[in-house]
This record gives sequence, structure tokens and C-alpha cells, in this order.
Amino acid sequence: MQATVPAGLDRKEAEVYLRLDSKRLPRHIAIIMDGNGRWARRRHLPRIAGHRAGVSSVRSTVETAAHIGIPALTLYAFSEENWKKRPASEVSFLMGLLCRYLKAEVPTLNKNNIRLEYIGRLHELPPSVQEKMQWAREATAHNAGMVLTLALNYSARTELVDAFRSIVDAAARNGGLSHLEIDEDAVSRHLYTRHLPDPDLVVRTSGEMRLSNFLLWQLAYAEIYVTPTLWPEFRGVHLLEGIEEYQKRERRYGGLAGDASQAHSSDHPRTRVSAPHAVKTGRS
Ligand code: IPE
Ligand code: IPE
Ligand code: MG
Repeated sequence: MQATVPAGLDRKEAEVYLRLDSKRLPRHIAIIMDGNGRWARRRHLPRIAGHRAGVSSVRSTVETAAHIGIPALTLYAFSEENWKKRPASEVSFLMGLLCRYLKAEVPTLNKNNIRLEYIGRLHELPPSVQEKMQWAREATAHNAGMVLTLALNYSARTELVDAFRSIVDAAARNGGLSHLEIDEDAVSRHLYTRHLPDPDLVVRTSGEMRLSNFLLWQLAYAEIYVTPTLWPEFRGVHLLEGIEEYQKRERRYGGLAGDASQAHSSDHPRTRVSAPHAVKTGRS
């Protein structure tokens, strides 16, 4: 049990935090931020009002995760399918919202020692948005605390396709395909997430029980926490409740109950967050 509460938590967060084991926090939490549209519809507001309201949830969740020392947080901001299938007006609102978020949030990210990264087919985003993203990444690159990764125009299947292409390209540059060796670490090293450990915990808001093409490789052994809370109502305290639930789970990795040797070693490369600028994201 934990006796001290980190600075920055409010009273409700502190209450949940005190029930956590601070030595067993997830190294990487991934969140599928869902339910903005339903939140707006319940208030007879346009869908975009839900996206706008969701920014406060991002702020609260990011700050709480950083305050308690989570090494990596990844947020599914919009999928490749959202990008292709939603009305142009909604997509362009989301682009504007992202730019405003980045501009407004960089000082707070710096204050909290948070480094910003992105995953997804970033080169398909509008050039002006890419510029803003690059600016925000560079403005936070010196931070050594939590890595905040935004998944933008992201699809796990596309990521795997890009990884296979990248493996083949690398082999072609390095003596030809007869030297090609593929194992799990090789695949991981060619994913957009090569700078991150695999998530220990994936949270989905709004009660939907699916992964919607998010981090399919990386979530192989993640604990799944689904909450009925809609994203615009989600706050840091809900993240702590998810971590509390996570800590009640027994992770077996295919082994037998109570066998600690089955747990992933903290020395494993895929459990560490790598140094800034170790990778480029997007298609390489
Ligand atoms: C999640 O909220 C945000 C994005 C996918 C961009 P939705 O827009 O999917 O909200 P619902 O699922 O329609 O309520
Ligand atoms: C998943 O939510 C993508 C994000 C939260 C960014 P969706 O709302 O797009 O997922 P589906 O369509 O319900 O599976
Ligand atoms: Mg949705």
C-alpha cells in the first residue's frame, strides 16, 4: 500500500491512488477515446461539440498519468477509418481541434516533462497539420518524463503492412532478401511503436467491447478495461479506477496461475521506453 500521494492529484484522485500499489503501475497505457458523438447527441448538440468537450478529458487524463509516473500513454485520437469514412466537415473540425490542442498544450506538456510522439500514416494528413505536429514534437523533445503518443490516421493493419514493407526494404538495402530474418522482435522494431513497450493496459470508454483496429500486435497480452463512461466525461480519476482494476487481474501469458516466471521481465526490450528521436513514425 502507498502512503504518499504525488503532487497534483485532487482529493478524489488521491483517494483512489491510495488504494493502488505504486510499484505495479502499468508501464504503458493505451486509451480508445470513444463516445464523443453519443455525449453530444444526449445533449442535443452537434457531434463536434462532443469532440470539443473531449479535449478537457485529454488534458485531465494526461496530467494525472504524468503526475503518478506512468512512463507511456497512447491515445487513439482518430483512426484511418474515421479519416476516410466520416463527413469532411467532421474530419476538418478534428484537424482544427488537434492544431488548437497542440498550440495550447505545449506549455503544460513542458511543465509536466511530457514528450510528444505520434503514430499513424502521418504523411497523409494536411501539410499545415503536419507542420504543427512537428513543431509540438520538437518543442517537447527535451522532456524525459512520460511519452504521450497520439494515434492519428492510425490503423493497426496498415501499421503491420508498413512494417512488412519496411522489413523487406531494410533487407534489400542490407545484402538482399536471402539475408532476411523475421522474428517477433524484428516485427516489433519495424512498427510505428518501436519507441514504446507494449501496453499493459488498454482502456476503452463508452462501453464498446472492441479494439477497432488499434495496436493489434502490441495488445496481445494487454489487460482490457472497458468503462461505460463517455469520453467527454472521463477524467484522471477514471484512469486511476482503471489502474485499480488492472492491479486486480492475474496476468498469466499463457502460463499457469501463480507462476511469477511467466511475467514479462522488466529487462525485456519491449518493456522499456526508448530515448527521444530513436525512431521516425509513420511509413518508413
Ligand atoms: C470518438 O468519439 C472520437 C473519434 C472517433 C474521433 P466518436 O465520434 O466515435 O463518438 P461516438 O462513438 O459516435 O459516440
Ligand atoms: C475508435 O472509435 C477510434 C477512436 C476512438 C479514435 P470508433 O468510434 O471509430 O470505432 P467503431 O467505429 O465504433 O468501431
Ligand atoms: Mg465511436
